[in-house]
Amino acid sequence: MARFYVTTPIYYVNDAPHIGHAYTTVTADALARWHRLLGDEVKFLTGTDEHGLKVKRSAQSNGLTPLEQADRYSARFRDAWALLDISNDDYIRTTEPRHHQAVRALMQAVYDNGWITLGTYEGRYCVDCEAYYSEADLADGGLCPVHKRPVDLMKEDNYFFRLSAFADRLLEWYEANPAAVTPEPKRNEALGLVRGGLQDISVTRTSLDWGVRVPWDESHVFYVWYDALINYATAAGYGSDGASFLRWWPAVHHLIGKDILRFHCVYWPALCMAAGIDPPSHVAVHGFLLVGGEKMSKTAFNQISPADLVPVFGVDGYRYHFLRDQQFGPDGEFSYEAMVARYNADLANNLGNLLARVSAVVHTKCGGTGPAPRADSALAPLAAEVYEATAQAWARTAPSEALEATWRLVRAANAALEAAEPWKAEPGPEVDAVLGDALEVLRIVAVLASPALTRAPAEIWRRIGLDDDPALSRLPEAAAWGGYPGGLAVEKGAPLFPRLSA
Ligand code: ME8
Ligand code: MG
Repeated sequence: MARFYVTTPIYYVNDAPHIGHAYTTVTADALARWHRLLGDEVKFLTGTDEHGLKVKRSAQSNGLTPLEQADRYSARFRDAWALLDISNDDYIRTTEPRHHQAVRALMQAVYDNGWITLGTYEGRYCVDCEAYYSEADLADGGLCPVHKRPVDLMKEDNYFFRLSAFADRLLEWYEANPAAVTPEPKRNEALGLVRGGLQDISVTRTSLDWGVRVPWDESHVFYVWYDALINYATAAGYGSDGASFLRWWPAVHHLIGKDILRFHCVYWPALCMAAGIDPPSHVAVHGFLLVGGEKMSKTAFNQISPADLVPVFGVDGYRYHFLRDQQFGPDGEFSYEAMVARYNADLANNLGNLLARVSAVVHTKCGGTGPAPRADSALAPLAAEVYEATAQAWARTAPSEALEATWRLVRAANAALEAAEPWKAEPGPEVDAVLGDALEVLRIVAVLASPALTRAPAEIWRRIGLDDDPALSRLPEAAAWGGYPGGLAVEKGAPLFPRLSA
């Protein structure tokens, strides 16, 4: 059986969940759901990143201990994921003992392998990035290139990871594994960083105690990124359950935003090599969701949260919009108007309308009993084509293309109804055939759309007389034409997706 291990970044607990965090998490969730349909054994991990200076300072300004801060914000992320029907199998918090244990074990292996040395570090540090910058990296006026805010001058004794020794190995790795970073422009960015030259990096702190203690020198804690990255290994069982780790590693898919590409595509694979484990097999990198042309941030006061939108669009409308309208890769601008337009076009007017029409006409012309589809329906070859296109797009981490493909079938079924106008025809075999085909499309689309829509598919199946949950189907069988048996009671109901006014 194939396995699919998918992860999101672990989010910092200094910030409340917004639609940017949710974009990554919903995409990972949809991929996990797609792979469950394929019958794969799936492990879907998300969680929170709870150590480091940023969290400590944020706790101080809120009058909380770092752990109180972490408890509070970690719960907010968990609530947001419950609101969005996120189906993660595990939720990791870096303050958990299992994670401390794994970090210490992995970094000890790196140390024992000779890849760590002691030195003094002096440099410009951005607390918001939790990263050092060279003078050349800084923006005009010596500001952080990301946050455009002053950086701190820091000097401390640090242990260094000998990253500079890994440049050739990383280039070889990327050459041998052309799909290790997708999409292509992001792979090129990763390669550019490695080719640009790698310097040793400081991986511990003495100026801070909110972190994981260094096992060979307890006066240091690990720098937050060299704690955070390891979460993916922790949850797979590194250092605690060797059999589990071998099952899930290295066939892992990390979903991340482009802000943390360097950490995931340069530092993390090198660290894995240094620890003697394989690098992650795949990192999928997406762009930023922009609001008013800018990245969302606390300081720009332009954050939108899932809870602002779900009451208007529902969970399905929320998930569908972000998966369908934000291409995975490039930056995209969030637009409320576009969200309303997409909801009305694809969900209210297409999918919702198809169900409403079919159930109404089954009542007026077929006594409420759904007929079976035609084996030789013109929609049958299209359904096969749509399945292929949908499957290939999910496999490429391209949800927007997957949903575009699936909706071709919805539109074709509506067009076939409009051409045949069964509502005007006399009851009989011709009307039965057209409606049977449309019911079959609804059955198939409910399955194919279920990674994106967590609510409507089960309701569609219920209304057309099928009692199972489409999310528990198996592909490709469940997408094969002819599965709707006919002879089932079809129910008329309230609109699945009531139209929204702009
Ligand atoms: O970087 N558009 O956590 P973080 C799209 N703790 N995605 C966005 C986004 C936006 N405007 N804003 C945030 C950290 N994201 C570290 C990660 S992993 C070992 C440690 C998403 O809370 C996107 O996935 O700053 C981005 O990479 C992540 O949130 C950053 O979350
Ligand atoms: Mg961030």
